[in-house]
Amino acid sequence: MNRAALRVSLLLPLLLPLLLLPALGRAGSNSESDQEHGGEDPPHSPGKGHSHWSYEDLKHWSTDYSDCGGTKQSPINVDTDQAIFSPDLRPIQLSGYSLPANKQLKLKNNGHTVVLDLPETLALTGGYAQQYRAVQLHLHWGSPSGPGSEHTINGRRFAAEIHVVHYNTKYDSFTEAMVHPDGLAVLGAFLEVGHGENQYYNEILKHLLEIQEVGQETLVSGFNIAGLLPANLKLYFHYNGSLTTPPCYQTVKWTIFNHTMLLSRDQMSVLVSTLRSPEDELLQNNYRPVQNLHGRRVLASFQTTPSLWGGGSSFPAAATYAWLAGDVLAVLFGVLFAVTALAFLLYIYKHRSQNTRLDSPTKSKVIYTAASTENTA
Ligand SMILES: *[C@@H]1O[C@H](CO)[C@@H](O)[C@H](O)[C@H]1NC(C)=O
Ligand SMILES: *[C@@H]1O[C@H](CO)[C@@H](O)[C@H](O)[C@H]1NC(C)=O
Ligand SMILES: [Zn+2]
Repeated sequence: MNRAALRVSLLLPLLLPLLLLPALGRAGSNSESDQEHGGEDPPHSPGKGHSHWSYEDLKHWSTDYSDCGGTKQSPINVDTDQAIFSPDLRPIQLSGYSLPANKQLKLKNNGHTVVLDLPETLALTGGYAQQYRAVQLHLHWGSPSGPGSEHTINGRRFAAEIHVVHYNTKYDSFTEAMVHPDGLAVLGAFLEVGHGENQYYNEILKHLLEIQEVGQETLVSGFNIAGLLPANLKLYFHYNGSLTTPPCYQTVKWTIFNHTMLLSRDQMSVLVSTLRSPEDELLQNNYRPVQNLHGRRVLASFQTTPSLWGGGSSFPAAATYAWLAGDVLAVLFGVLFAVTALAFLLYIYKHRSQNTRLDSPTKSKVIYTAASTENTA
């Protein structure tokens, strides 16, 4: 039997299941979707001045603010399977985020959210190609009956979301920077309910009762602002987007952290049920629905799906183990198939060589006999 043919016949059954099964599994995951949640509300306002937009009125944002109808809008849904692993996305570095208690910060209910003004001494010094200075941070939340993060991950909305807004130091002010494509950098992190109080969030939450009415403000003592963000600043998603409130300028380089922040149930309920809106209702569901990607890429600083032979440092999510299980099954079937095929081929091979050994003398005898007969004839 031909050796090359034997090799091919062995490799095929081994390779086919190995190649096909993981591909089939992956084909099941869905692609980018735009879930528009009409009629829901969001908040957040880095700008100054009185604006009259509302989350009840999403459809009309683009009438008054044309950028709101653009093709690079935020927030978005992050589909982790579609995110592109980019090893050159370095850990985000925060400088000057730890503030002394004698530094007083302004906290305000602006009618859309709660805003904490930040001193310009806070800066982003790593992870972005350029330097950015902090301006303010604010939150987006839902209600006691539903979550209210702006970004979603694989279609999942989290309880709340924090945005820390920065502007590029090459511009003189936030107002100037916000109209330039490379003007702003916003860090976003998700808030979830967990066990125990979060002492950093308490620094803000304990003042909410003082600013229940729209336009009210109070002073907050300095604390470590970095405590409001995840300890792990290495794992994040990155994309080009916009402010999530009018004027929706498409000038934001977004960072969405993969690790989330935990608040106690009581803390979360203070967040969603204390501030009042311009309509004198509770300020709730101040999030904008996710926007169409329009072909934009989302980068990930880490591998979001494990590779077949050990993907390294991925976050061990349930989906990861599902993939691993799928891969293990694929290998198992491949090996089983190969072993069966090998045994079958060996059997045929043995059988044939036995026949050959038995046949040969007979055949030569026949030929020899025939020839000799002919010769003697
Ligand atoms: C964001 O926009 C800049 C400028 O156009 C571009 O160089 C960069 O590749 C974009 N980033 C992503 C993640 O697409
Ligand atoms: C973090 O990344 C993992 C792996 O891709 C993903 O399953 C999980 O949903 C992500 N969570 C967040 C909050 O980004
Ligand atoms: Zn925001």
